[in-house]
Amino acid sequence: MRTTDGKRRPLGLRLRLTLSYVIIFTILLAAVGALFRQQLKSSLDNNTTLILDEEAATVKGYLQIEHNVPVWKYDPKDTEEAFIVQRLRRIFLLTGSDGRVLEVSDAYNSLGVESKKELQSMLGAGKPVWRVRKDDRNSSYLIRSAVLTDDGGRKFLLTIGRTLDANEKLLSQFTRNYFTIVPLFLLASSALGWIMAGRALSPVNDVVRAAQSITGDNLGLRIPPRGAGDELDHLIEAFNSMVDRLQSSFSQVRQFSIDVSHELRTPLTAVRGELEVALFSARTVEQYRDAIATAIESVEQLSQVVRALLHLSQAETGLVALDKTSLDLTAIVNNVVDQFQIPAEMEGIHMQSLLEPCRIEGDKIQIERLISNLLSNAIRYTGKGGTVLVGLRSAGNRVELSVEDTGRGIPSKHIPHIFERFYRVSDGNVDPERGLGLGLSFVAWIAKVHGAKINVLSEPGAGSRFEVNFPAGSSPEALPDAARERRLHASRAGAIES
Ligand SMILES: Nc1ncnc2c1ncn2[C@@H]1O[C@H](COP(=O)(O)OP(=O)(O)OP(=O)(O)O)[C@@H](O)[C@H]1O
Ligand SMILES: [Mg+2]
Repeated sequence: MRTTDGKRRPLGLRLRLTLSYVIIFTILLAAVGALFRQQLKSSLDNNTTLILDEEAATVKGYLQIEHNVPVWKYDPKDTEEAFIVQRLRRIFLLTGSDGRVLEVSDAYNSLGVESKKELQSMLGAGKPVWRVRKDDRNSSYLIRSAVLTDDGGRKFLLTIGRTLDANEKLLSQFTRNYFTIVPLFLLASSALGWIMAGRALSPVNDVVRAAQSITGDNLGLRIPPRGAGDELDHLIEAFNSMVDRLQSSFSQVRQFSIDVSHELRTPLTAVRGELEVALFSARTVEQYRDAIATAIESVEQLSQVVRALLHLSQAETGLVALDKTSLDLTAIVNNVVDQFQIPAEMEGIHMQSLLEPCRIEGDKIQIERLISNLLSNAIRYTGKGGTVLVGLRSAGNRVELSVEDTGRGIPSKHIPHIFERFYRVSDGNVDPERGLGLGLSFVAWIAKVHGAKINVLSEPGAGSRFEVNFPAGSSPEALPDAARERRLHASRAGAIES
């Protein structure tokens, strides 16, 4: 079969299944037929052999040889006896021990009498000799030759035979009937196979139709499972769960576009408002200058969002190349903490760190970004007089980085969402230090590419603890006996794996 572009189209599954049935049945039935025919033939041959053995014994009862002359002793008036003797003499040859023919029937003559030499060798065989001979009409006969000893101890060779025509007729009748019925049977079984294959494959066609009808707008479509628990139900389940995943990715993309437009609209509206006000009401150069400065601030906010988004998208699509090396995490954390000391002091926040020597395999820049984001959150969401504690400890083959604060905490229902893009916990008031809502998305991505797990423990009003669990680096250093007590007895509000 060829498609319009000239390529060979593979045969349909239904046709292939049906063809397989038919081929298997054909081979099976032909083998069974041949075997059965062989069995039948050998049992018919055995039967003829037994009959000839019996007839040879019967001949002894009716035949006497007087002075080398065979004399048949029976009552010619007894029709049954006469018939038996006549039948025994139909294919009949009696020869003396010297090979001289004493009596031969016409039918045997037509088969051709053996030479004296052959007859003598059969006499010396010691057991009955069997052979198949054909007459001039091509009919087969089974011939039995065996030694016959008379009362005087003289030996003769008695040869009798029986036509095999009936056997051959039965065999050819069997062959003819069998091979007439088999094609009819094959025809019926291929029709049945075609119907059965069609039924078995109909759920596959349902999947095909459903897959064809799915577009971005009707991702809610599912194929109902048949409840058979077989391979096709597994296919349907796999298909449905694939559509589930597609639907959730689609809705994420949709939500993302809505969020992006929302995030961009606010600063854009602000820029427009500021410029319009300036256009209609500014009089002096200072007023124009102020308006332009505010507009530039809003534009800066816009470009910040765009830059961060671009970076995040690049990271998540694998476009950011990672340069992983063995890192002295303690030194890195120390450095970042130092950078945040002044901003923390300005906010009236006390910052402290408790660091054990730890190494991890990682990309230095990304790890610094992860720590900065956690620290900036801790400072941003902790009020004056609060404390931020940065901890680093080694636990078995893991390294745990923790950033704790005594800030406003996160209500547990928000915890599963804070790693989503643009997600910000709103407390009803407009936050003057409203961030972009992207920092933790970066943290989640960086943790993921470093094989780290993030735990968030938080209690509203009491503070939060972010724990990042890294796999330990290849050359960990010895651990000093540092104090490992926890300061925050916050309730475990959630855990997010990245
Ligand atoms: N230590 C914390 N304490 C309380 N709330 C927090 C803390 N860390 C994060 N959050 C909440 O999670 C939200 C998401 O944090 P994320 O860092 O992703 O965004 P952001 O800080 O608002 O903005 P930015 O993109 O500038 O970091 C925050 O808006 C805040 O509501
Ligand atoms: Mg942040």
